[in-house]
Amino acid sequence: MSSAPVLAVDGPGGAGKGTLCRVVAERLGWHLLDSGALYRLVAAAAARAGTGLDDEAGLAGLARDLPVRFAGGKVWLGDEDVSEEIRTEDCGNRASRVAALPGVRTALVGLQREFRRPPGLVADGRDMGTVIFPDAELKVFLTASAEERARRRYKQLKEKGFDVNLAGLSAEVAARDRRDAERAVAPLRPAPDAVVVDSTTLDIDEVVACVLEEMARRGLASRP
Ligand code: DC
Repeated sequence: MSSAPVLAVDGPGGAGKGTLCRVVAERLGWHLLDSGALYRLVAAAAARAGTGLDDEAGLAGLARDLPVRFAGGKVWLGDEDVSEEIRTEDCGNRASRVAALPGVRTALVGLQREFRRPPGLVADGRDMGTVIFPDAELKVFLTASAEERARRRYKQLKEKGFDVNLAGLSAEVAARDRRDAERAVAPLRPAPDAVVVDSTTLDIDEVVACVLEEMARRGLASRP
């Protein structure tokens, strides 16, 4: 079913990809791939299996047989609801380490491509347009300044009642950016044919409108 169209959305954490992808997929009735969740799930599976984060072969094995299900707005690992667990900062940091391992990335390629089904797929990640769906009908690289991304994350966590500080989060955002951009495999960078959208001064409605306009220009969606 590789003929289904793909909107590939890549960019650093906190740029607003998740919300953009959810809204666009809902608007168009397309499938949604949250590829970051897969790396987070490998980290969660490793914790359960007692697999070390430096055991590449062991982690790749877990990734290959990942018993994942996205159902009812929840993420399942086997019959366990891990929706909350995989969203924690700790799991995100472990996912970032797991995602730097070539064996793990290779093990997840087939699973990600299976999400490409009619009527279309919105794929959210870091390497959607460069590695997983290089023939995507539209590639968007969504970015925002590191300060703004840290500020958004701070607001989100505060609202959830977590005791966080902005300076600490800024340092974490910068460290994760560096790790994602400098890793040897699938480093985070825009595909040469990606449309770069900077969301630093845009709200979500403006970002969605911009992407739907690009899709309309390519005949992938009707004009809003
Ligand atoms: O988008 P996220 O925060 O859920 O991603 C978790 C980690 O996985 C993050 O460090 C980046 C990495 N990742 C990746 O390397 N490739 C992807 N396609 C998606 C996420």
